[in-house]
Amino acid sequence: MHHFVYCKGVLNAEDVPLPEIARDVGTPFYCYSSATLTRHYLVFREALKGLDATICFAMKANSNLAVLRTLADLGAGCDVVSGGEFEVALRAGMPAAKIVFSGVGKTEEEIRLAISRGVGQINVESAAELDTISRIASSLGRTVRIALRVNPDVAAGGHDKISTGRKEDKFGIDWSQVPDLYRKARTLPGVAATAIAVHIGSQITTLAPFEAAFTKVRDLTLQLRAEGFTIDHLDLGGGLGVPYDHLSNTQPPSPAEYGDMVRRVLGGLGCKLAFEPGRVIVGNAGVMVAKVIVMKDSPTKKFVVIDAAMNDLVRPAMYGARHEILPVVEPPMSPGAQPVDVVGPICETSDRFAQDCRLPPLKAGDLIAFMTAGAYGSAMSSTYNSRPLIPEVLVQGARYAVVRRRPSIAEMLALEQLPSWLADEQDAKTG
Ligand code: LLP
Repeated sequence: MHHFVYCKGVLNAEDVPLPEIARDVGTPFYCYSSATLTRHYLVFREALKGLDATICFAMKANSNLAVLRTLADLGAGCDVVSGGEFEVALRAGMPAAKIVFSGVGKTEEEIRLAISRGVGQINVESAAELDTISRIASSLGRTVRIALRVNPDVAAGGHDKISTGRKEDKFGIDWSQVPDLYRKARTLPGVAATAIAVHIGSQITTLAPFEAAFTKVRDLTLQLRAEGFTIDHLDLGGGLGVPYDHLSNTQPPSPAEYGDMVRRVLGGLGCKLAFEPGRVIVGNAGVMVAKVIVMKDSPTKKFVVIDAAMNDLVRPAMYGARHEILPVVEPPMSPGAQPVDVVGPICETSDRFAQDCRLPPLKAGDLIAFMTAGAYGSAMSSTYNSRPLIPEVLVQGARYAVVRRRPSIAEMLALEQLPSWLADEQDAKTG
């Protein structure tokens, strides 16, 4: 459920008509709904009631400061995967103790930063990383809680590129090596190896792979406890899918069904649980709004060329993802929808958002909205083709604010400079 609905024939974000924002900030732009964000967080939290759970929002899905602050105010922590994310999370008001540091290749600088600022937990991805963390924590005079991120060899995820829990994937510690590594961790200074972490993929639309992985984690917990280890924290990762395309019938399990399964499989262990949902919290809370530049007909195709491109929303080009597209002005009841390709202006055939998708008649200047674009939308955008990152707007009720503005080309260029042997006098003068 989300708060992007037609009101008097115009698509609104909560109580704000999207054309009003378009007039103000220009297109394309991302727009997030505070009410949707809040609702999704609360629904997820409610689904975990009775469990001692912390929700560590996977900020790789959306790292906008205002989005993070909204979640921090609701009590969320964060799952971060870089030193940059860690710093942004702190700036957003996430308590360090509620931050989990994941990621398959953390640098020594990142590990040092996280430990010195009091990170809640580091999820360890390899034997070598365990040694590094122990060395750095000891040198800082700290003890940091670590989880071994285990690889349960479970296939899951909406797409091969986002499936992370199979044996051959780069993630996690191979199941066969896990017990020995816990034994080793117990002997190392600076680390408290009292946690297990697992994350098997993203956009998962059935409960079975979660249940298979969590069952393995339960068995491992019991096995380690039987050996005398204290295992009191389990980090169950993220991955719960969202419905993307109104035309497909894929209906992911609800957070409540997911929570029931977690309670059934892991509820009896008395562990503190951490969850790292990204998409399910923020996916439906955001749309990307773009404007039609031109309609282009060929004998075989109709193209809708828009001012957003693959650099702004890369998911269709990268994963073949389909985002529902809605005209911002509500079409008449029998709009005479026709199949069109919706494409961006970039010189790549992959710069295509939809193929043979049935849309009501559109013309230059019309606005369209890409639904479910709050997760891995802006966060994955780039400046390919020297296109500035597009603004992000947060709506709350009848008010809205630009929470990241569009940089000027001059600002983008400010990071570049010509070497002395290429700079001419004019450059030297203008700096
Ligand atoms: N925890 C870890 C360790 C992860 O690697 C991820 C996502 C999450 C949590 C959050 O997963 P979620 O709840 O959002 O499914 N760019 C891709 C998705 C990549 C997901 C990577 N890891 C996409 O646009 O579909």
